[in-house]
Amino acid sequence: MGRVQAFTYVDSMDIPFLDQAKQYFNKTIATSQETSVLGVDIGSSSIKVVQTRNNKGVPTLDTYGEIALGTYGGTEVGQATNLPPEKLAEALKVLITEASVTSKLCGVSVPFASSLVKLIEVPALPDDKLRTVVPIEARKYIPVPINEVQLDYFIIPETEQKLFMGANSAEEAEATQLTKRMALVVAMHAETLRKHARAFELAGLNPGFFEIEAFSNIRSTVSRSLAPVAIIDLGAATSKLYLVELGIILASHVVPTGSQDITKSLAASSHVSLAKAEELKRQAGILSGVKNDDAARVSHAATLTMEKIFAESRRALLGFQKKYNKVITKVILTGGGATLKGVPEFARQQLELEIEMANPFALLQAPAFMEETLRQVGPEFSTAVGLAVRQLNEHSS
Ligand SMILES: Nc1ncnc2c1ncn2[C@@H]1O[C@H](COP(=O)(O)OP(=O)(O)OP(=O)(O)O)[C@@H](O)[C@H]1O
Ligand SMILES: [Mg+2]
Repeated sequence: MGRVQAFTYVDSMDIPFLDQAKQYFNKTIATSQETSVLGVDIGSSSIKVVQTRNNKGVPTLDTYGEIALGTYGGTEVGQATNLPPEKLAEALKVLITEASVTSKLCGVSVPFASSLVKLIEVPALPDDKLRTVVPIEARKYIPVPINEVQLDYFIIPETEQKLFMGANSAEEAEATQLTKRMALVVAMHAETLRKHARAFELAGLNPGFFEIEAFSNIRSTVSRSLAPVAIIDLGAATSKLYLVELGIILASHVVPTGSQDITKSLAASSHVSLAKAEELKRQAGILSGVKNDDAARVSHAATLTMEKIFAESRRALLGFQKKYNKVITKVILTGGGATLKGVPEFARQQLELEIEMANPFALLQAPAFMEETLRQVGPEFSTAVGLAVRQLNEHSS
């Protein structure tokens, strides 16, 4: 397809936080060094790690693991926490031991809630002038003092912008004149970065980079898709919706409802502990077919919560499609909440779109007997896999 060849800026930029764009089509590993690297996703309810190595040019899975943070924060498995660096470090150390992690070099996620990703319009100036103008323009979109964030930006190259705007080929793009240019502005909350950096220092790990979870997620889930797709990350506390085309986030939306809300409402309605409710939730799923009272209650709680999430996602998707004049045909589900039994079918009914489950481990070579397990747990590890893959690329090149 002409669009892929036209997408050449992936090799030409030099911007640390947006390296996902550079590596978007760069799936091959440059050297055959066999050093293992780590992706560490600090989620609100659990930390996920994925260790991978470059085995003769093939990214290969070493090990992966997860540790629930609930008990470190005085709550239960599956519930969101906000832990100080010391507690995060404690959990990290246990996870490293239990998952037999050997690498210290890691890519680390930054929560979407602690960041800002925005596609902005700037005057149509030559690229060298844009490099001066964009950082100044970008500041207007940052709602906090500039010293509280780490700011980065990425100027969308002309051809790609024209393709976004509807040109059907590189030739057609060539013939179009742009009146505005577009840039992707990215800001990360400095306090969150400091907190994470401290936790990793205490745990004896070496963060090679920090990356907003959305980018890690995209790298591991939509790497093969060129058409506009939506990703819905069903986390513990929140659900995040990203509209992605050619690996770039066009728009995003956060729904302040997550999978922990199913557990909470089930615990309240069934008069059971959060731990028991979490167990029941994982057993029964959303479309249980009412086998017994417990399953019916889980199904009811899950339906109410998921309806809320998908109704808001649907509204946001319709808004995006209208604003950007794009047709989204596929939604990729990711995050631990997506592994609740019956969620893909439920999403299909609610969104009336093609639904795909994220399968990030497909990017890594692993023994055949693990394939089914990795497919099942995959959605929860999308961010960690994306981080590991980028760290592997950076380490090898
Ligand atoms: N097998 C399962 N069945 C049902 N639900 C599950 C399963 N595994 C995890 N969950 C739910 O998924 C949620 C955690 O998902 P995930 O690990 O993606 O969240 P997180 O990354 O910690 O949170 P966030 O992305 O909001 O920061 C929890 O609420 C948990 O109950
Ligand atoms: Mg998460």
